Amino acid sequence: MSGIFISFEGPDGAGKTTALKTLMPLLQAKTNTEIVLSREPGGSPISEKIRKIILDIHDEEMDPRTEALLYAAARRQHLIDVILPTLAEGKVMLSDRFVDSSIAYQGGGREIGTDAVAEINDFAIDGHLPDLTIYFDVSPEVGLSRIKKDHEGAMDRLEKEAISFHNRVYDSYMELVKANPQRIKSINADQAPEKVVEDTLKIIIEKFPNIFNEGE
Ligand code: TYD
Repeated sequence: MSGIFISFEGPDGAGKTTALKTLMPLLQAKTNTEIVLSREPGGSPISEKIRKIILDIHDEEMDPRTEALLYAAARRQHLIDVILPTLAEGKVMLSDRFVDSSIAYQGGGREIGTDAVAEINDFAIDGHLPDLTIYFDVSPEVGLSRIKKDHEGAMDRLEKEAISFHNRVYDSYMELVKANPQRIKSINADQAPEKVVEDTLKIIIEKFPNIFNEGE
């Protein structure tokens, strides 16, 4: 028995996390299969410890490759502790961010190179790519203005980066979407929150009609 693995991606302020909260009960109402929601960096005790180090605003001197390796390490542990056991039980695994975040943020944003970052992540994930990735498409300007409005005083180390960093993240995501049309589906995240949730739900149901069909 093998479950399905869906990841959610997007620039800072895309609204993934809020949309996922609304989406969870709606999705669960459409299936008898248990749905597990997790996030990266983090999602398991060791990975959450790594998350604290990575996002700490005091870690200003962190080297970009160290950062990339820490994200990959946190991902490996999350995969082993949560994702693979969930899939082995035949459940639906939703992850708020996964490997594409590293390719966009560290590969593009930090300019380490998307191939190099993909390579260290291949080692970490060992072939376990999501069955579906939903990309929340929002421009860096809109995303960052949302973050500033929501929690300016509490922005983390990556959110505090300059607009040029966020533009590179956005461009790398665009390349990923273009290069992986089968796996990555893009939705317009610059519209009403209910519409974002509706679009996401539609893509998931269409992709896995055998799982999400209750009450149809
Ligand atoms: P988080 O507060 O979880 O933000 P969000 O709600 O936007 O997901 O912080 C995660 C931050 O870490 C976010 O700025 C994106 C960044 N990130 C990377 O740079 N690389 C990665 O591999 C992952 C998973 C996240």
